[in-house]
Amino acid sequence: MIILGIESSCDETAAAVVQDGQRVLSNVVQSQVDIHAEYGGVVPEVAARSHIEVINPVIRQAMSQANVSWDDIDAIAVAYAPGLIGSLLVGCLAAATLAKLHNKPLYPVHHVEGHIYANFIVDQVSHPNVQQLELPSKQPTFPMLALAVSGLHSQLVLFEDHGKYRLLGETLDDAVGEAFDKVAKILGLPYPGGPAITAAALNGDPKKYQLPRARLDNPYSFSFSGLKTAVLRAVQREVGVDHTFPSHSLSERLNDVQRADFAASFQHTAVKTLVDATEKAFHEFTPASVVIAGGVAANSELRRQLRERLPIDIEYAPIQLCTDNGAMIATLAYYQSQVVDPTPPDELEVKPSISMTDTVWAR
Ligand code: KG4
Ligand code: ZN
Repeated sequence: MIILGIESSCDETAAAVVQDGQRVLSNVVQSQVDIHAEYGGVVPEVAARSHIEVINPVIRQAMSQANVSWDDIDAIAVAYAPGLIGSLLVGCLAAATLAKLHNKPLYPVHHVEGHIYANFIVDQVSHPNVQQLELPSKQPTFPMLALAVSGLHSQLVLFEDHGKYRLLGETLDDAVGEAFDKVAKILGLPYPGGPAITAAALNGDPKKYQLPRARLDNPYSFSFSGLKTAVLRAVQREVGVDHTFPSHSLSERLNDVQRADFAASFQHTAVKTLVDATEKAFHEFTPASVVIAGGVAANSELRRQLRERLPIDIEYAPIQLCTDNGAMIATLAYYQSQVVDPTPPDELEVKPSISMTDTVWAR
């Protein structure tokens, strides 16, 4: 079964063609990072407008790279939730229109669950113009523990089977990716903050600044807002100003050594928080596999610490499939299509804030 997957929930316009929920035929991602970097974060109106400009060329490119025509496509999948409403609407309108025009079944899927399903991609056709991905050697098996960590989500989810899962815990305030982005801003590092902090942290001392960790009743819940504020207060102390000093000017007073030490100390604390909860869940629920998903899953320190701490052979999806992409959307839709009816194009709705665990689809 060959599925075209479309993704536009935030600031990447993406389309991909995936066969049988495991083999990538093409994966095209048009990032808006350069546009939003100027503003230090995603501007929703600008994101939606930019999606409109590139969505058709991105879809066309995905199909031509995969060397498929509309006759070869068995279904269309699209991320309908969660995300920025204007951004979601562009991908959904494109998917619904194409489904109607070419008479294809349409599968709306949840973006965060899509991130988790990126881990089921284990094969790729070789193409002279397409970068080869470093894929896992095999698909994860159930029960599967998933740590989903992006700019909008931080969740630990336990999957009993495809589409059958329960939330163990999630962030009570900021997502971990959001904390990376906000701390980067405080330190004067560019957007997106995750890769910038990782790069700065390479030269820093992770033990230099002791940052507090939230103590919560549920060991699988997270809270990252206090950590971000703790970094802000520590930077103010370090450069000798109080809380009335404008935070956008703080970074000008930091030197490169201080900046690197703050980046390393923040990253160490944020990653340790995620790994402690994952390790605890691993011992309580003894899953057969552990996967990480979402933009923050690209973090090398998270990958290193998990490998070190978990007594299981853990394989990671390549970085290109951790950040937003259409291949994860097409992959998830394949498994859903085995048990769920397609959605009539006229009934497709976007759901900007629905949680993944409200969309359990197993029958
Ligand atoms: O999944 P994603 O591409 O978009 C959302 O669905 O949010 O995740 C984007 C987030 C951003 O907050 C970005 O700073 C973070 O993922 N990120 C990272 C890394 N690469 C991206 N965070 C930590 N380390 C990284 N290497
Ligand atoms: Zn995402």
